[in-house]
Amino acid sequence: MEISGKNFKILLTREEIDARVEVLAKEIADDARGKNPLFLVNLTGAMFFACDLLKRIDYPCEVYPMKFSSYVDNRSSMEVKEDLFPDIDLEGRNVYVLEDIADTGLTVHSLSAFLKDKGCATCKIAVLLVKPDKLQVPLKIDYYGFEIGDDYVAGYGLDVDFTGRNLKDIYVMTDNL
Ligand code: IMP
Repeated sequence: MEISGKNFKILLTREEIDARVEVLAKEIADDARGKNPLFLVNLTGAMFFACDLLKRIDYPCEVYPMKFSSYVDNRSSMEVKEDLFPDIDLEGRNVYVLEDIADTGLTVHSLSAFLKDKGCATCKIAVLLVKPDKLQVPLKIDYYGFEIGDDYVAGYGLDVDFTGRNLKDIYVMTDNL
């Protein structure tokens, strides 16, 4: 598959993703039950993961989008920007963050610190993909979908040069960046 002029092959099929999201959704739903949970979905990459996971929680929850990003030109800029955050009081709330991927880990790390300052009772982080060998900061991730290698991935919400988010499977780049 060519995406934005680069070559990719399938890393995780839609069936594998679906099965794993089902398990994560059940774990999170069980953990959050009775806690009036509030879900924060980090745009844009986490939107497919979040939709699939949240639809499997069978009791009402608050869901808000937010946007923290650290990436420029497909490489980490090593800076995290807060582009969007809902105007809500998180004091005493049980917050669950849904994120697409931890690459350097900087975004998740900054997000956790930011939310800690907002007085949440608990803040749990769910990340679909983790690249353990690329992490540059210590991370506490409560739920993750898959550990993957260092190479660039796309599909199921993740983009290459702003395209490819719509693909149902997750692909890994076979060219060098
Ligand atoms: P981190 O702060 O370096 O962990 O990067 C997190 C953000 O970078 C994610 O939310 C993604 O938007 C983007 N990102 C990191 N690695 C990839 C990748 O392999 N494919 C697509 N986007 C990525």
